[in-house]
Amino acid sequence: MSALNNFEIKTLLAHLWKDYKVMTPQAEHIRELLEERGEVLENDHIALRTFNLEPVGLKVLERVFLDLGYVYTGEYNFDKKKLYARSYSHPSGEFPRIFISELLTERLSESAQKIIRKIVSQVRQGTTGKHLLYMQSLWPKVSLEDYDALLMESEYAGWLAAFGIRANHFTVSVNNLRTFGNLESLNGFLESRRYKLNGGSKPIQGHPGQYLEQSSTLASRIAWEFLGGVIREIPSCYYEFAIRYPVPGSWRLYDGFVAQSADKIFESTDVNGIRQAS
Ligand code: NI
Repeated sequence: MSALNNFEIKTLLAHLWKDYKVMTPQAEHIRELLEERGEVLENDHIALRTFNLEPVGLKVLERVFLDLGYVYTGEYNFDKKKLYARSYSHPSGEFPRIFISELLTERLSESAQKIIRKIVSQVRQGTTGKHLLYMQSLWPKVSLEDYDALLMESEYAGWLAAFGIRANHFTVSVNNLRTFGNLESLNGFLESRRYKLNGGSKPIQGHPGQYLEQSSTLASRIAWEFLGGVIREIPSCYYEFAIRYPVPGSWRLYDGFVAQSADKIFESTDVNGIRQAS
């Protein structure tokens, strides 16, 4: 793992965070609240979303991280949401895990596929993954009509069409917090500061037996411009919190993800607001 790769990872993560905090005003506020308590925040993982079409598919984004020394740690299927995802870790443990999902476009209706193909066709073929990660506005603004049509079938498709490829969420590592012993107390603190959590009264996804528990805020709502200058307030990105447990027989914390939990957490960006956790 060369020093140059590490420098590149830091630069890329700093870029993604800079963009994310503009998209997600609450993240910076929460970060400040935690830092006021003396916490030094570390990221458990960063999540990216894309379409499974060239030249923006998961494999193109994945290449960037593999080239920088990350290793593949697992794959996840989300049948109902029509998504496929993979996760990666950096062997040094110094950098956040990366979670990349892609929409299985061919599973949407013909009309939704047409909208998505039109969007992706505007990205130059041969565009590198690095370029995708540094250039968030990869296609011209979509029309509100197309956004609404996609939302009807897939909240994920609508979000991605509107926002392009950027960090969908950063995740605070609760293991590294010193003033909260568990996820419940952190959630209670956030709720006392009037942050709304995804899942309402049951914000925690997963359990210690799965070695990973996660919760997330509901996405920030921001005024977003669509084609023709039309503005609508829509959910952008959210902040996530994760605590990991050691895998039995190992000193190491669990390094993967739990599909069932991630499935619920995807709903943090739903336009239709709070969903009940099941
Ligand atoms: Ni996540």
